[in-house]
Amino acid sequence: MTVYDIIEAKKRGRRLSEEQIAAFVRMVADESATDAQIAAFCMAVCLRGMTDEETFLLTKAMADSGERLSPPAAGVFADKHSTGGVSDSTTLILVPVLAALGVKCAKYSGRGLGHTGGTLDKLESFAGLNVDLTSEQFAAQVERVGAAIAGQTKSTVPADKRMYAVRDVTATVDSIPLIASSVMSKKLASFAQVILLDVKYGDGAFMKTARAAERLARLMVAVGTAAGRQTEAAVTDMSAPLGDNIGCNAEVREVLEVLRGKQNDLARLSCLHCERILRMAQGVEEARAAKLVHEAIDSGAALEKFRQIVSAQGGDTAAFDDAEALPLAPGRLIVRAPRSGRLHISAQALGKACAQLGGGRQREGEEIDHTVGILLKKRAGDRVAQGEELAHVCYREPRQEALALAQGAFTVSASFRARPLVHCIISKEDI
Ligand code: URA
Repeated sequence: MTVYDIIEAKKRGRRLSEEQIAAFVRMVADESATDAQIAAFCMAVCLRGMTDEETFLLTKAMADSGERLSPPAAGVFADKHSTGGVSDSTTLILVPVLAALGVKCAKYSGRGLGHTGGTLDKLESFAGLNVDLTSEQFAAQVERVGAAIAGQTKSTVPADKRMYAVRDVTATVDSIPLIASSVMSKKLASFAQVILLDVKYGDGAFMKTARAAERLARLMVAVGTAAGRQTEAAVTDMSAPLGDNIGCNAEVREVLEVLRGKQNDLARLSCLHCERILRMAQGVEEARAAKLVHEAIDSGAALEKFRQIVSAQGGDTAAFDDAEALPLAPGRLIVRAPRSGRLHISAQALGKACAQLGGGRQREGEEIDHTVGILLKKRAGDRVAQGEELAHVCYREPRQEALALAQGAFTVSASFRARPLVHCIISKEDI
């Protein structure tokens, strides 16, 4: 069986067998399949789809493509994974909050994908911070500080590493079977017993409709549950950026503000995720979970825990005392309201604009510019007056196409239909 035959079968819309799926994943992991072949396979899956059974098999084969991680310490570990959004820095808030509450967090995260940002890229905004921890360093930090955030080592889910990097640059991200297998293979190869998935839907998400997000959520909860993990999914709104800042340094600045008590949708969703994890992992009752989370922030304990995490990973902690230590690129485009009315913001356009200005990757392995960013001065749904400032775009090189994209992301109309932050929760009873 050749990789060519497998691609050809999927291109024709055929259901792949367990042997074909296992062979393809093996060839990805041992590098006998080229990047072009991976891209062709992923495009065929995007266009032709996969059955749930094929997705289960792909997830399992990917999880088995490398080493399984063992827990760095005794106890129950919880994990949260977002399917990707714009201005979604919830992990950088959730990990220190939970660690401050004594919940050990051993978090493996990823880099930006498509127009969405990645936790590792944001964390590297702290100069010198190392996300490539060995498993010994990772375990020692979890034991000593209570939390660590790192990239999975080369030997864990190597098939996803290659597929993820190829998908990022070949417009093959937004496929339910590919996202489900990518996310869940990493969860199955890891040790978290409690898994909270944040499945985004809307303009800035890979899933554009609540229906598609619910389907992805059900599939992932089914995979996690079948593997014996306590898995739930929150289907959440990504029709507009979650926080007020986009871009690495800008988002990390906002994380520090949230840990100091700033209130907005980013803060609210991060707290809701923390509360749900406390309930799932420790059986903490709802009102008490909310109280604990708010105390961790109000007391400054979560901010202090974040400083410890950054410092333990070798990062410069100057930004904890001075936001200017996370500089923003010097060029400015000030976006103003073209007319008066209710504001609409396209999260996808802003995510793409930020990436095109250098804040994300256009090519695999490319360096990104942490200083590029977009600062929102108004939120989606706000009433704005003609000429009012809506956003500042911070750039180093004035790439006209990207700036026009950012400008066009803001539209004003007479009405606005607000969506709830959390559309629904999917648990094992719903699959
Ligand atoms: N996050 C992942 O880990 N994989 C995807 O495919 C999309 C989001």
